[in-house]
Amino acid sequence: MRENVLFYLMGLSVATVMGYPSRLSSADLDATPRITIVYNALKHARHFSSHAQNYTTLLLEEEKGILYVGARGAIFSLSSSDITDDSYQILDWEASPEKQAECLKKGKNNKTECYNHVKLLQRLNSTHLYACGTYAFHPLCTYIDTNKFTLPSHFEEGKEKCPYDPAHGYTGLIVDGSLYTATRYEFRSLPDIRRSRHQRALRTEESPLHWLNDAEFVASVLVRESMRNSMGDDDKIYYFFTERAGEESTSIFEKTQLPRVARVARVCKNDLGGKKILQRKWTSFMKARLVCYIPYYEVLKDVDSLDGGNWTSTVFYATFSLSAQWRSIEVSAVCRYNISEVRAAFEGTYMEYQDSSRKWSQYNGEIPEPRPGSCITNRARKRGYNSSQDLPNGVLDFIKLHPLMYEEVKPTDRVPLLVKKNVVYTQVAVDRVQALDGHMYDILFLGTGNGWIHKAVVIGSMVHITEEMQAFKNPQPVENIIISKQQRNLYVGAQSGVLQLPLSTCRQYISCFNCILARDPYCAWDGKSCREVADVLDRSLLIQDVLHGNLGCWNDSVQAMPVQKNRTVLHGGDVLLPCEQTSNLARATWMVNGTKGLAEDGQRHFRLGVDGLLVTDTQLEYSGEYQCYAEENGLQALIATYALTVLPKELGPQPPATPALPSWHLASSDAGNMNLIYILVITVLGGLCFVLSVLLLYVFCMQRHRGKYHLGGPQSSSVELQTVSSNCLSKGRQDEEELSPYPDGCLQIIPGEATTLALSPKETPLALPPPPPPLPAEFTNGISTLPNMLRKMNGNSYMLLRQNEEPCTSPLYNSFTEELSKILEKRKHTQLVEKLDESSV
Ligand SMILES: *[C@@H]1O[C@H](CO)[C@@H](O)[C@H](O)[C@H]1NC(C)=O
Ligand SMILES: *[C@@H]1O[C@H](CO)[C@@H](O)[C@H](O)[C@H]1NC(C)=O
Ligand SMILES: *[C@@H]1O[C@H](CO)[C@@H](O)[C@H](O)[C@H]1NC(C)=O
Ligand SMILES: *[C@@H]1O[C@H](CO)[C@@H](O)[C@H](O)[C@H]1NC(C)=O
Ligand SMILES: *[C@@H]1O[C@H](CO)[C@@H](O)[C@H](O)[C@H]1NC(C)=O
Ligand SMILES: *[C@@H]1O[C@H](CO)[C@@H](O)[C@H](O)[C@H]1NC(C)=O
Ligand SMILES: *[C@@H]1O[C@H](CO)[C@@H](O)[C@H](O)[C@H]1NC(C)=O
Ligand SMILES: *[C@@H]1O[C@H](CO)[C@@H](O)[C@H](O)[C@H]1NC(C)=O
Ligand SMILES: *[C@@H]1O[C@H](CO)[C@@H](O)[C@H](O)[C@H]1NC(C)=O
Repeated sequence: MRENVLFYLMGLSVATVMGYPSRLSSADLDATPRITIVYNALKHARHFSSHAQNYTTLLLEEEKGILYVGARGAIFSLSSSDITDDSYQILDWEASPEKQAECLKKGKNNKTECYNHVKLLQRLNSTHLYACGTYAFHPLCTYIDTNKFTLPSHFEEGKEKCPYDPAHGYTGLIVDGSLYTATRYEFRSLPDIRRSRHQRALRTEESPLHWLNDAEFVASVLVRESMRNSMGDDDKIYYFFTERAGEESTSIFEKTQLPRVARVARVCKNDLGGKKILQRKWTSFMKARLVCYIPYYEVLKDVDSLDGGNWTSTVFYATFSLSAQWRSIEVSAVCRYNISEVRAAFEGTYMEYQDSSRKWSQYNGEIPEPRPGSCITNRARKRGYNSSQDLPNGVLDFIKLHPLMYEEVKPTDRVPLLVKKNVVYTQVAVDRVQALDGHMYDILFLGTGNGWIHKAVVIGSMVHITEEMQAFKNPQPVENIIISKQQRNLYVGAQSGVLQLPLSTCRQYISCFNCILARDPYCAWDGKSCREVADVLDRSLLIQDVLHGNLGCWNDSVQAMPVQKNRTVLHGGDVLLPCEQTSNLARATWMVNGTKGLAEDGQRHFRLGVDGLLVTDTQLEYSGEYQCYAEENGLQALIATYALTVLPKELGPQPPATPALPSWHLASSDAGNMNLIYILVITVLGGLCFVLSVLLLYVFCMQRHRGKYHLGGPQSSSVELQTVSSNCLSKGRQDEEELSPYPDGCLQIIPGEATTLALSPKETPLALPPPPPPLPAEFTNGISTLPNMLRKMNGNSYMLLRQNEEPCTSPLYNSFTEELSKILEKRKHTQLVEKLDESSV
């Protein structure tokens, strides 16, 4: 039922997205990362970690070349050019044992809460940093001399500046020496935006209306709106958070579970509070709804901003995910807002709370002067209002009761840039570069809930994800990302450590087409290699096409032709012609004897997978030349060429007791009855498998030394195969049942150089008789070699058999676990459903 409401709302929101009719369905917005780079294949990554955990607070000082990291119980000073450099400094700042004991007595979690989590690290003046930590539920702050970088002896009470609970949303900024923080501070846990370290400490109002309602803060951004401002406006600090929507109390939602909505609020830097009314409270607090994709139930995760050197062009990038009620579906959205639209909302009409009807509605009455909530501008000064303390009572009373704006802040062009399923974008950082076409492009680095980084370039109102990178081996949320334009690096903070990554790795694109297809504004083709544009002085000859991603390479002669490989297979046998696409966006097409369309998926005995073409039950007339092309974005590149020869059966030496194979025929039978057949077969096979394993176990125990059964010849490959009784895939060939000890094709993959085969995991290894002579390499047509992966294709499971001849030198094939994680990643993409509908829930 809830789902229905949700999808109704989704439908509504989609329907209201009118700007781009061609982009109404979420499938259009769901970008697949072009390239997947798993942890071990990540190049030029540097990891820093030490005894501490929770490397969540990052402060980069570009000029000094230092990255400060606030962790649990420590602060680090790292070199920003190489965070693993030995010259780093540590400042240990653990909570004292007494405070930890007190914390435990309060019943707090001894695993995370009763430590000192450093939550704030900001530059205070030229010599000192200001740092705050939760200090085992007793927040403290201190000044750190960056030259000495030792723990000072003097600490300040931190309860006005830092949350008690490290898990609470928190944001803090030092602006011109004053500290602006927003979080839920103390035990009573009322959220608040506060200013401290200022002659006028300020906070939000709580009566008669709470200005904030159960708010969870994610970010704050200073916008220097006073710069070159003809209105004499003030600098503002914008706050981004999620809170309960009081204005929804009369709609379909019950009071007890008001929906959470995203908000943007702002205050003026030179606010001094009111004199009698709103004393020591903000007089410039205003908030507005921030809408991205699903008007309700979206939780703001992070915001980053860019101003391109002029505050009027400030843009905010925000990531959202569905709120916890919908945990069964993971959807993230990315939206862009520009400052003019945010300002427009704050300059629009107000909302008002009617006590009588207990609801919020648009305020249509008179608005006092100067405009409530605005900063002190030239206009106000002309009328004698030099500071907020001069504001008339009528204005202050109005401010007190009208913190919420009527207008919503909608994303630029009214549409999200990206909606992506099966991912939670916990963090976003944005960089802006000028491409060779003269346009400025924004590049987003999105951190996920499981330790990946998605790099995406914003092209118009669309997002192209150039790559997804596994930044941390163990899945963990990315907790912070910052960009160094100077070092051209990205720093990523998470529970287990800090990662440094170059903003671009252009050399990974080994051809002009690859370089162009990547659409990476940092990269261009110089005729020989794909290079960082910033490294090239003479840019006149560089080739780049961020806008379309397919122009410019036609004249490029460096098109390496793949070497033709020969494959021979016995009539009736199966063969795999590998064709690994590096790009997840590429589609493989095969030409046979120079003709397209002969080897389409599902046609005859051809199966098209992500890794190649599988030909089953080969017929004599299948011989010929097979060419694999990668087709992407209108470009086509030849990836592999094979000469396939199918030999009549009696010509070739008989292969040894071939293992029963998973039945491709079954997998290929009518898709219509697939499910039924599948279930039936599974059931039957399950039983059969069990009976047979018992039988085999028995037979084998009886006839130990007749156990000549193994798969194929001696293997040079690095993967071995074992049988298991629980892993039945599908039915083998009937006639081989008595021959083979693996009649059901119950296969298990074991990484390593095993040379023995065990019958069942429980059995003690047997001394095997010498293996039969090896087959000529040509006959190891991929079948007698060992399966290395289980892949999904068209909804059917199948075992992919890797050829023997390619040594496993590719960095992508380093280990089995990696392989598996890669498959799972790929599968994630291939399993994307067309539309965000109920079938996907
Ligand atoms: C700190 O890291 C640990 C795991 O290392 C995690 O369980 C815990 O939730 C983290 N705490 C915070 C406040 O992020
Ligand atoms: C935390 O408390 C649990 C039980 O209360 C205890 O078993 C565990 O050892 C404690 N851990 C630490 C780090 O003190
Ligand atoms: C910076 O602030 C600290 C702490 O208030 C103070 O001790 C130090 O003298 C200041 N340094 C400068 C250069 O103002
Ligand atoms: C900043 O942008 C505004 C409007 O886009 C423009 O009028 C102004 O000249 C710009 N200022 C500078 C210094 O570039
Ligand atoms: C902000 O958005 C509005 C409306 O979409 C557009 O007219 C304006 O040019 C944008 N401003 C900037 C600085 O991008
Ligand atoms: C505001 O400042 C102006 C000039 O500095 C001064 O003449 C005027 O009296 C001030 N007004 C108030 C209300 O303080
Ligand atoms: C390709 O190269 C030829 C000569 O080298 C040149 O005349 C032509 O303009 C080039 N075409 C493109 C699209 O660059
Ligand atoms: C494949 O066979 C052809 C002749 O049939 C031969 O010329 C070629 O060298 C062989 N290629 C490889 C890679 O063995
Ligand atoms: C390819 O051509 C050869 C002869 O040129 C022919 O024997 C073979 O059947 C053709 N293969 C296919 C799949 O059509």
